[in-house]
Amino acid sequence: MESPFDVLGVDEDADDGEIQRAYRERMKDAHPDQGGSAAEFQLVRAAYEKILAGDAEAHGGDADAHGGDAAPADVEPDVETPSYDVDSGEAFTPWSESHVEYVNYAAVDDHGWRLDDDDLFAKAERADLDPVNYGEFVVGAGESLLEAAEDRGFAWPYACRGGACANCAVLVVEGALSQPTDHILPPEMVDRDLRLSCNAVPTTETLRVVYNVKHLPDLEELRLPPYPFELAHADD
Ligand code: FES
Repeated sequence: MESPFDVLGVDEDADDGEIQRAYRERMKDAHPDQGGSAAEFQLVRAAYEKILAGDAEAHGGDADAHGGDAAPADVEPDVETPSYDVDSGEAFTPWSESHVEYVNYAAVDDHGWRLDDDDLFAKAERADLDPVNYGEFVVGAGESLLEAAEDRGFAWPYACRGGACANCAVLVVEGALSQPTDHILPPEMVDRDLRLSCNAVPTTETLRVVYNVKHLPDLEELRLPPYPFELAHADD
């Protein structure tokens, strides 16, 4: 049976950058729209997750082993054991129920609004947009932002669901999202508060996000062909 490293085609001592690049390339090839198959796609994703899990274990599997701090001060204290963020080395705990207000980047663009406009969400509310473009929902404990949106009937963009693309990217305007397997967004994009909704978990009680920001020019080269579900359901 192939090891996870064989599946990605990298040596066992490959560094994080090599693993990320190999993962992204394999995900492209394995994508059903690129001649791969759903089974191959899942196999590659599972291999990558196994490598990440092994890496976390090798580091002790908890935040202290990385010198990380305790859960951030704004995290609600009554929720379970903190998860471990492999990028930052910090522990985070999902908020038990996080209230999310969202606006679709397509609507922002159509109206000529700016992403850094302090009034962006007030404008969206006043514009009487339909629920695809503006609204609110609640994310339950342990749900990723994308899962929560889908559970409420929305078809937000995605492709790999495994941290290998920018299709599911959102811009966090207020609040915080943490994600354990984000290895594709470069640090400067993370600093700009871009996150991947497929594995991002709210760590604040309220959150404001612009979703569908995959259309931003600097995210273009990080996109994969959309997953067939998105093609069938998303209006983007
Ligand atoms: S990282 Fe590809 S869909 Fe989220």
